[in-house]
Amino acid sequence: MQKIVIEGGHKLKGEVKISGAKNAALPCLFASLLTDQVCEFRNIPRLRDINTTLQLLAEFGVSHQVGRRMSINPVSVKHVRASYELVKTMRASVLALGPLLARTGRAEVSLPGGCAIGARPINLHLEALKKMGASIEIKEGYVLAKAKKLHGAKINFDDVTVTGTENIMMAAALANGETVLENAAREPEIVDLANCLRSAGVEIEGDGSATIHIQGRKNLGGITHEIIPDRIEMGTFMIAAAMTGSDFVISGGRMDHIEALVGKLDEVGVELIEVEKGIRVKAPKAIRYTDMSTAPYPGFATDFQAQFMALMTLASGSSVIVENIFENRFMHVAELNRMGANIKVEGNSAFVTGVKKLSGAPVMASDLRASAALVLAGLAADGITEIHRIYHLDRGYDRIEHKLRKLGARIKRTKVKF
Ligand code: EPU
Repeated sequence: MQKIVIEGGHKLKGEVKISGAKNAALPCLFASLLTDQVCEFRNIPRLRDINTTLQLLAEFGVSHQVGRRMSINPVSVKHVRASYELVKTMRASVLALGPLLARTGRAEVSLPGGCAIGARPINLHLEALKKMGASIEIKEGYVLAKAKKLHGAKINFDDVTVTGTENIMMAAALANGETVLENAAREPEIVDLANCLRSAGVEIEGDGSATIHIQGRKNLGGITHEIIPDRIEMGTFMIAAAMTGSDFVISGGRMDHIEALVGKLDEVGVELIEVEKGIRVKAPKAIRYTDMSTAPYPGFATDFQAQFMALMTLASGSSVIVENIFENRFMHVAELNRMGANIKVEGNSAFVTGVKKLSGAPVMASDLRASAALVLAGLAADGITEIHRIYHLDRGYDRIEHKLRKLGARIKRTKVKF
């Protein structure tokens, strides 16, 4: 087991480059299951979740080569079972369901179960696949799906679901006829998947809006696709600048993907200036306070909630943060309070009263974005912060301690001694 040790209180400077987006790369890699032609991907981030995806593809009999470009060779799919052992380490494994079923007529994917942020059912994915002609059975913890040939359907999601939308977009790509998705997710990662599928010859309209039309095809060509930059990583670095009183440049990211966060950062006094290399982020002298509630895109992303809360712990007043997407995404609160924050939770609202300083402490990461919030708090705190269970962080941040060290942070990864 490893931990991250941070000596807080140092200003950051220089430039940091944003990696490819985890939540775009995962569905795009699974989309390669839809074709028997070689697929080429650029800008795949180095993450544990990517390794898990490649392991899953290998279990299905699909080989890959890693280089500056990642190349996947899905010439044949030999197995259709996504085992519990892998699915339990990455919920997004459920993205194998749509493409496996569409390509082979069968899929056996372990039910992911709940995780640290909520119950996270997949009923909407399953109902939509049934509408497309799949028969679905749950047996011994696995979703067993069968369909000789999926057909297009009109699907109106009861709730907005990101991976649900992605799963059905992929299934629809090889279905007979047209599929129309209503109340679809509108995240930039959805648009990226649509572009990835387009590169293989799929006709899609409306991605980025609530209604998506997909014309199914008999066969798809190979995918050639460059993954969009990670908007959550970009926002996390912006908040790092704000919390450490720093001034540095973020390159390779897309401001148009994080407008809700940009609006909030502006409200609390963070300056974001377009420069030749990217965006210069300049911390305010004093961080102002503001309320925030999470919502599906283009609203304020739940994946920024923990990091934004960390920022508000140092604001010059009290703020209310409301989590509307996941029922249990406040695990970071107790840990931030151990570092001297003043946060109280009632239902899905957190009441944050700003303090002058946080102080370093040993803390425990509970999920990916909670871990990022603890890193941010550690960078700003007086003294030493030790973050345990950092495997969560490695799932979704590409070499974060290297990037922060390059910016001048005192951060290292060490082995935990028992
Ligand atoms: N929901 C259902 N039934 C379903 C699907 C979803 O009730 O069949 C509920 C969920 O329980 C949740 C809400 O709908 O309350 C939204 O869940 P969604 O399906 O949109 O989440 P997801 O697709 O499982 C993706 C990201 C998450 C991100 C959420 C919300 C990927 C691989 N994961 O999850 O990313 O928080 O959308 O934007 O794209 C992360 O990167 O740290 C992360 C958790």
